[in-house]
Amino acid sequence: MTVSATLAASETIAARRAAGEEVLALAFGEAGIPVHPLLGQRLARAAGQTSYGPVAGIRPAREAAAGYWTRRGLTTGSEQVLLGPGSKPLLFAVLHAVGGEAIVPSPAWVSYAAQAELMGRTPIRVPVPAGEGGVPEAEALDAAVRGARAEGREPRIVVATLPDNPTGRIASEGSVKALCEAARELDLVIVADEIYRDLVFEDGPFPSPAAWAPERTVTTTALSKNYALGGWRIGAARFPGSPLGESLRETVRGTASEVWSSTPMPMQHAAAYAWSDPVELVDRLVSSRRLHGAVTRGAAEVFAEAGCEVDPPQGGFYVWPDFEPLRGRLEERWSVRTGAELARVLLDEFGVGVLPGSAFGAEESSLRLRVAVPGVYGSSDSERLAALVSTDPLEMPWIADALGALGSKLAALTATR
Ligand SMILES: Cc1ncc(COP(=O)(O)O)c(C=O)c1O
Repeated sequence: MTVSATLAASETIAARRAAGEEVLALAFGEAGIPVHPLLGQRLARAAGQTSYGPVAGIRPAREAAAGYWTRRGLTTGSEQVLLGPGSKPLLFAVLHAVGGEAIVPSPAWVSYAAQAELMGRTPIRVPVPAGEGGVPEAEALDAAVRGARAEGREPRIVVATLPDNPTGRIASEGSVKALCEAARELDLVIVADEIYRDLVFEDGPFPSPAAWAPERTVTTTALSKNYALGGWRIGAARFPGSPLGESLRETVRGTASEVWSSTPMPMQHAAAYAWSDPVELVDRLVSSRRLHGAVTRGAAEVFAEAGCEVDPPQGGFYVWPDFEPLRGRLEERWSVRTGAELARVLLDEFGVGVLPGSAFGAEESSLRLRVAVPGVYGSSDSERLAALVSTDPLEMPWIADALGALGSKLAALTATR
């Protein structure tokens, strides 16, 4: 097992910066927003909470998470909730508890396939519907699962990410419903990773798989993206209120007890506050959506102007441009034939750090890149806060400069000699 592509890229970029190189860091999936002072206060106030606490999490935090989901249309009791140190270990424990093989969308966030491989299983990749992201296309899923079963394999769980990393897209209601029907027909558990749920740019109904397949969907969330607290390590899983859900939660609780014991107590107290959606924090979500929405769309335009194909981002903080229309030029000028070579040229020749689509399951030859935009929000907390409260973040001089510089670098990259 090698270090996760996103974490490895961020370490490479940090090392180059430490060596005095200027790098536009667009590789790492961090939300790039300073901690809300009220969350900092809650955390500090709970610093004396030094006991391990219950494996599943303290009741006030589980109740708050249940309220968070209930207010978002998924009625939840605290007994359905289990907390963990981030949603990543929870996702691992759920994949482990269900057993068998996992079906992972193609493309998908780096860690689902890596976690399946850690368990000695080869993930089954199923393409997403054209122009969408985050869910396997239902007919292709059906064919892949039946094919795998005919070969004696045991697919048992399918992953969905709403909204999606890396594509920045949110699957349509039709695609989610079709996924739920296929999962029921094929008797698959669904794990719905909704870590970016609060960061959808446009209002409208949110297509949670748990709404259409409540008996078989485990939903996960965390404070890493909506409140930019990735380093605090706290997440939650919501298990179905069904016999299957109860038994899965109990197995995950067993894994938790042997692997991480419990979730850090001070974090649980801060999370109990955040998941209760107090107005003063919800305001922060509104400005975060505005910032991520404006900058992802601005960056998508920069890539489109350079000649890439790129779908408009709908949530999260990623852009997923395809350099395919520029393949001829890139090959002639830079001998670029793969996404990894393209990412390498961008870093070595232009000081732009991004990830190749292949890290997310795209073909090696694909010229897709995953671009994380928070790297341009500012170089200090005061710049990042100013960007956050601005009604027009693209007007912030450092953001305008960074996107301008990105445009010039892309023009130089794609220029004919
Ligand atoms: C889709 C997705 N799921 C889960 C995670 C991990 O989140 P956590 O910080 O809760 O472990 C990330 C982080 O990059 C992510 O992009």
